[in-house]
Amino acid sequence: EQIKKGNYDHFMQKEIHEQPHSLTTTMRGRLKHNSVLLGGLKDHLKTIRHSRRIIFIGCGTSYNAALAARPILEELSGIPVTMEIASDLLDREGPIYREDTAVFVSQSGETADTLLALEYALENGALCVGITNTVGSTLARKTHCGIHINAGCEIGVASTKAYTSQIVVIAMMALAIGADRISTQARREAIIKGLSELPSHVSEVLKLDREMKDLAESLIDLESLLVFGRGYNYATALEGALKVKEVALMHSEGMLAGEMKHGPLALVDETLPIIVVATRDACFSKQQSVIQQLHARKGRLIVMCSKGDAQSVCPGGSCRIIEVPQVADCLQPVVNIIPLQLLAYHLTVLRGYNVDQPRNLAKSVTTQ
Ligand code: AGP
Repeated sequence: EQIKKGNYDHFMQKEIHEQPHSLTTTMRGRLKHNSVLLGGLKDHLKTIRHSRRIIFIGCGTSYNAALAARPILEELSGIPVTMEIASDLLDREGPIYREDTAVFVSQSGETADTLLALEYALENGALCVGITNTVGSTLARKTHCGIHINAGCEIGVASTKAYTSQIVVIAMMALAIGADRISTQARREAIIKGLSELPSHVSEVLKLDREMKDLAESLIDLESLLVFGRGYNYATALEGALKVKEVALMHSEGMLAGEMKHGPLALVDETLPIIVVATRDACFSKQQSVIQQLHARKGRLIVMCSKGDAQSVCPGGSCRIIEVPQVADCLQPVVNIIPLQLLAYHLTVLRGYNVDQPRNLAKSVTTQ
């Protein structure tokens, strides 16, 4: 086991630091001269382009990855994209039609709720696409077509490298589906360039390890943590909070920043730490105003911003700042989750909990 961990103390730590490599593997052979080649989808692209709706279905981190990539799929495909947590779809017996494309996202490919939702979508005649990290898994076998994320074996119960590879695969899927649209060609080319540069930006953001350990030290005894995000980074808020709660066993909530004044604002005081994701994208000025409102209520703010933006997000200098490299807006969630993965990891170690086997959890939830 120690050999497999190499120089790392835990699998989660190793898997976080492996991400420049796992992302490279995910993209290997798939980015071609300003286009994307996804062998597993190529015979089905026409059907997907004619679908009435694309539905993402998954649980936990896999659901969050789909949520992060949803806006770029909507933008490049022009098809409505809806989100379903697998258990909720089954509870409601939500409508699924023959004209739908149902995309199932699962690292293990064996999650019971996701597989039952797959049975349900197959019965209702939808085209079923699987996105998984496990070759030969039930999900890979039972879907009509799919994409392997090729992130390499993930052992830590907390999913880290699979999350970033899932986002990249769905972004590539969006590029492939939208490839016949001339109006978005320049946008697609910029994203493909961004994808090829992504592993080096991820290497850069991993250098925040020490800073995130220091931040963890300042939060070690607290009971709760909020994470606010919106747009591409709503998923970053949900996923960052999920990591903290599942391994560090600290209450943590990811929230849509646009909902702040509809309730969560009441929680703000001088002690509750609030992470605000405010990297540069179309939502930046809205996040600046969220920060001002939290600041006016004396919130204890930790702001994640693009490099060089510390003054713009926190003019008074009273926030703790996490500066990350800026990448294409739709790929920013891949970079932004990494400091939060590191924070969750260090909080867990400092609080003395089991990093790779959090209590009550299993890597793959094969029962309902
Ligand atoms: C992630 O850190 C969690 N352990 C969990 O939410 C997980 O993502 C979920 O159970 C889904 O697993 P899957 O991707 O294997 O389907």
